[in-house]
Amino acid sequence: MSQPIAFIDLQAQRRRLGAPLEAAITAAVEGGQWILGPQVAQLEKDLAAWAGVKHAITCANGTDALLLVLKAWGVGPGDAVFVPAFTFAATAEVVALAGAVPVFVDVLPDTFNMDPASLEAAIAMVRKASKLAPKVVMPVDLFGQPADYGALAPVAAREGLKLFCDTAQGFGGLLDGKRAGAIGDAAATSFFPAKPLGCYGDGGAMFTNDDGLKDLLLSLRMHGQGADRYEHVHVGYNSRLDTIQAAILIEKLKIFEDEIEKRGRVAGRYNKALGASNGVTAPVVIAGATSTWAQYTLKVKNRAKFQADLKQAGVPTAVYYPIPLSRQKAYAHYPSAPIPVSEALSSQVVSLPMHPYLDEATQDRIIAAALASLG
Ligand SMILES: Cc1ncc(COP(=O)(O)O)c(C=O)c1O
Repeated sequence: MSQPIAFIDLQAQRRRLGAPLEAAITAAVEGGQWILGPQVAQLEKDLAAWAGVKHAITCANGTDALLLVLKAWGVGPGDAVFVPAFTFAATAEVVALAGAVPVFVDVLPDTFNMDPASLEAAIAMVRKASKLAPKVVMPVDLFGQPADYGALAPVAAREGLKLFCDTAQGFGGLLDGKRAGAIGDAAATSFFPAKPLGCYGDGGAMFTNDDGLKDLLLSLRMHGQGADRYEHVHVGYNSRLDTIQAAILIEKLKIFEDEIEKRGRVAGRYNKALGASNGVTAPVVIAGATSTWAQYTLKVKNRAKFQADLKQAGVPTAVYYPIPLSRQKAYAHYPSAPIPVSEALSSQVVSLPMHPYLDEATQDRIIAAALASLG
């Protein structure tokens, strides 16, 4: 019996990080400043320098990172925020939590990212109805690839809307030499363990070049505190990154670039082996972009059979996402542009094991099982 295959092997990364990681965790515990200790400020400096953005502000998770920026911008009742229909729920959830209205936009069939033409149609629809004020465009860097900001940013600018990048899956990717995280008026990421840059629990971060926004986010994550600890100038949140998680992320950031490269190599081998097969479409990365390959996601004709065959061969697969958000019970009453691509994708996509430490022999087993299923 061959070894079971991991969908994501986080322990392989932990073994690579070794003693320095253990020492960093011990130092964080012994330091005793378990909330907003010095490692948090150090990580924020490291993240900003690494991404090429002025400010990185950490918080408790990626969902809060999205919510805090919307709140800081005063987004609320009567406002429309344009989000893709094909993404994780948190992207739309935070808009509703802020009291605003998520307006769903379709995605492109090759990259799965926000379709600029559908965005224009959704904005026109909202303006025509004159019930909501368009405020923010919130593309998602789905599965690790930066959205097509070259096409989306001019639409946001022309319409007077903020561009807010949900880079929970894509932080660290590149578009035309700029890191995801440094693109847009602000960006937010998640350090959920399975993300390309994840910690050992929940965590998140917000990024911006705007000094005023940075100050507001620092206050909002800390109960809206003012100049003094017990002065409160905003209704805020308790949303801070634990010192121990910051210590872990400092170590992980040191190898992140190498890991992105390794993920790219794994994706390249998948593309080469599977790209030309019948009944399957390999993922496409746009010119000028580097994906962090948070997921390696194929489109297949007969997904149920493909998943069953791979399971039989000991290969785990996953479906992100089986239902477009605008078809979900919680979000079906919100406005939506037509979403034929999101609907089609939700029954076609399937993700294969992807992580930097997937060795070639194991990957060849996965590829062989996929090819056998595709016939
Ligand atoms: C696209 C997207 N947005 C937001 C989030 C929320 O991040 P978190 O789980 O850290 O709250 C996630 C991940 O879970 C995500 O994939």
